[in-house]
Amino acid sequence: MIFDAIRESHDLQRDLCRKLTVSRGDMAVRQLLFLQLKVELMAHAAAEERHLYVPLLMQDGGLDASRHALHEHHEVDELLEELSVRDKQQDGWIATAKQLSFKVRHHLKEEESKFFQVAGRLLPDAKKAQLGARYRREIVRMRKHYAAQYQTVVVSPATGLVKPARAAADQAAKRGNAQAGARLRGKSQPRRTA
Ligand SMILES: [Fe+2]
Ligand SMILES: [Fe+2]
Repeated sequence: MIFDAIRESHDLQRDLCRKLTVSRGDMAVRQLLFLQLKVELMAHAAAEERHLYVPLLMQDGGLDASRHALHEHHEVDELLEELSVRDKQQDGWIATAKQLSFKVRHHLKEEESKFFQVAGRLLPDAKKAQLGARYRREIVRMRKHYAAQYQTVVVSPATGLVKPARAAADQAAKRGNAQAGARLRGKSQPRRTA
């Protein structure tokens, strides 16, 4: 079902927002968290617009909800653009990151508590199942599309999720931040020595 599939990305977004807004000290870690969040937000918005909001937009009763959601996606895009600067240590960067986190959380809550109900009423069950399958394929494709623009993040072939490239995680570990490196690599991956 489309809504369960969407919620999986929402949970990831909340988790990454929380980690990003409390990140301090190690700028490489902050940069990696930001790129993971950016790729996730952009891939999710594209897949959700194509496989939830376009069908919703075609129904009279879905116009308001889908327009509202697309507007908020655009606002998130603008904040991501503002945050995409080399120096992420400067005053104001983390304040803008908190603004992004606030906006994202507001948006997810509105989708889950209002827009899903609107879509739930307007779309037949078979359509919801079909859209869920399409959304799942699309978000992985779009994660790969956006991650390809950066050397430090990749999409795991096993999970389809965005993760730090091994070199970026190892670099964080090498600079004495072993815990952060291990966290970024993910516990299930043994560290490569050569
Ligand atoms: Fe959305
Ligand atoms: Fe969403």
